[in-house]
Amino acid sequence: MFMASNLQQTVALLREAGTGFAPSVLASSLGVEDMVLLDLIARENIPVGVFTLDTGRLPQETYDLLQLARARYRIPVAIYAPENGDVENYTAAHGPNGFYESVALRQECCGFRKVKPLKRALAGKRSWVTGLRRAQSAGRAEVPFKEWDAANNLHKFSPLAEWSDQDVWDYIRDHDVPVNALHAKGYPSIGCAPCSRAIAPGEDIRAGRWWWENPEFSECGLHPHAKAAS
Ligand code: ADX
Ligand code: SF4
Repeated sequence: MFMASNLQQTVALLREAGTGFAPSVLASSLGVEDMVLLDLIARENIPVGVFTLDTGRLPQETYDLLQLARARYRIPVAIYAPENGDVENYTAAHGPNGFYESVALRQECCGFRKVKPLKRALAGKRSWVTGLRRAQSAGRAEVPFKEWDAANNLHKFSPLAEWSDQDVWDYIRDHDVPVNALHAKGYPSIGCAPCSRAIAPGEDIRAGRWWWENPEFSECGLHPHAKAAS
């Protein structure tokens, strides 16, 4: 059952980021957790900006939700893209889908499509907010509510750290929050189209991400402390 105390704590953490560690931004992948956070920021009028990293390889359903979110919420979602030169160099050297060939080539792709634009999105900020949850994978079991992010040199808040899957979906239902159409097709975790797939019942929530790799590598570099899954 949904815990109201959880919600109060979440709002308090969002306020702490937005007022105690301003300027603050939510990193939104348009995933279900990030939609909860966007809804709370709008509903509670919390001074936290919002951005998304458009890798150029997102599923159509994610772009559809981004378009919808622009209309539904008054909060603008800033969109950061990779540099053209980086995309052209990589695709010239390795082809558009070179990331399937090795972990190194996959990490390089995540590097210029996500991690490098993330640095631009976080420049000049004192804190950022993520939708990380402990229940998402074994590697995220110790996600703290707040921590010093040494890699990016600012405070990092994960206000949903203790939320269960049920909490997230109860909130979505109770507040009629729009979500990515892929969730209903078996995708609990959605990233780039070529690197995300549906999971089977009982599988780890993140099992559909970079499924061809050893789970040890299943993080993209946005969250360097999150460890290997299982
Ligand atoms: S990922 O690091 O493997 O991609 P995941 O999809 O579970 O992680 O998302 C975890 C959190 O990272 C999200 O709640 C969000 O805060 C941030 N994040 C992931 N992808 C993006 C993106 N494309 N743009 C902005 N933030 C993102
Ligand atoms: Fe590239 Fe796949 Fe990483 Fe997206 S998830 S940036 S397509 S390797």
